[in-house]
Amino acid sequence: MTLSDDQMLADVDRTIDVARARAETPGCQHRAHFNSCGAALMPTVVLDALREYLALEAEFGGYEAEDRRQLELSDAYAALADLINCAPEEIAIVDSATRAWDMGFYSLPLGPGDRVLTASSEYGSNFLGMLQRTASTGASLELVPNADDGSIDVHALGGMLDERVKVVCLTHVPTDGGLVNPAAEVGRLLQATDVTYVLDASQSVGQMPIDVVELGCDVLAGPGRKFLRGPRGTGFLYMRRSLADAVEPPFVDVHAAEWTADRAFTFHSGGQRFETWESSCGAKIALGVAARYAVDWGLDAIWAQIRQASATLRAELESIPGVILRDRGVEPSGIVGFTLDGIDNATARAYLDRRGISVMTVASSYARIDMERRGLSGILRASVHYYNTDAEIERLGVAVRSLMSKSRSH
Ligand SMILES: Cc1ncc(COP(=O)(O)O)c(C=O)c1O
Repeated sequence: MTLSDDQMLADVDRTIDVARARAETPGCQHRAHFNSCGAALMPTVVLDALREYLALEAEFGGYEAEDRRQLELSDAYAALADLINCAPEEIAIVDSATRAWDMGFYSLPLGPGDRVLTASSEYGSNFLGMLQRTASTGASLELVPNADDGSIDVHALGGMLDERVKVVCLTHVPTDGGLVNPAAEVGRLLQATDVTYVLDASQSVGQMPIDVVELGCDVLAGPGRKFLRGPRGTGFLYMRRSLADAVEPPFVDVHAAEWTADRAFTFHSGGQRFETWESSCGAKIALGVAARYAVDWGLDAIWAQIRQASATLRAELESIPGVILRDRGVEPSGIVGFTLDGIDNATARAYLDRRGISVMTVASSYARIDMERRGLSGILRASVHYYNTDAEIERLGVAVRSLMSKSRSH
């Protein structure tokens, strides 16, 4: 059998040059970073963009620096739009994924008798927002049952839909383990309805291809610092243009709206209405650079590499007596959730940290309903990115093994 040129090219496209990725990532040189789902390591290009902008601000002043970098600032919107397949005007850049989600969700009209549906794996802050907003509007908040693998049961969701359902909120990749929710299937189901579909892509953007048209979502929120490898203090909101122009954001300022008469104003069109005048221009530019950097690697290639590395990590951890993997889902993501028999999560994290290995602990408050249902008060989370190597995974395995055997000999 011979491969066609197209097949060979496709194979080339799927390959990540890990050595190059590491050479372009200063943080890889001295630690094994398994916390990309908390905050990933920035590549040099992102760091340089941030540093260069701060130097410009120091030299010229904040407003003068902004005047000089208008092209780069507007390219940040274009880069994010390229990343998720929308128009730049449909993007708002804010300071976190939660604020992006809030600005989207709190803008949606709700009233007494309306229904909001979500899944048990929804991110904690979103759930709190839904609790607050449904309580203040008289709407109800209901949970869609899960399928056996822990993902949202799309069939059950279909059975719950009626004309009172106004919003469905879903977290694409939950914070507490490898589950990937069938976000596109939900989008296809909702396509024929008037329901607004709000997708939290905090852990999927930068990790896997995200296409808002394919996903069928109306609203999407993502952070800069996680798998996208941007700077902290950044996040972005996508809202379908026709929806954005029809809703009223919960807050307003002179950037979001035009003050048209003494007692009147109109919101600007598109994403701008969800932003504030003051923001970190350097962080915005660096976020755009991070989005371009991800697109240059190729999201298919990144996703393939992450899945391969996370399968290696799961196999490594599974082979250690006393390690309990806590992932669910059929085709798990790069987030590996686990607990250690007889060792609390904070102790394990500190032990690994002292050995130059970064992992994260997740408290149940971040996904309370899901974790409580599974009898978990918290988990350890090790996440891989395309810059992690098999040698680093082995190092993590050796350290966990030694921690387990030390605790068993006491
Ligand atoms: C699934 C999910 N959604 C939302 C967030 C919140 O992101 P941010 O801290 O940028 O608001 C997180 C953070 O871990 C997350 O895992």
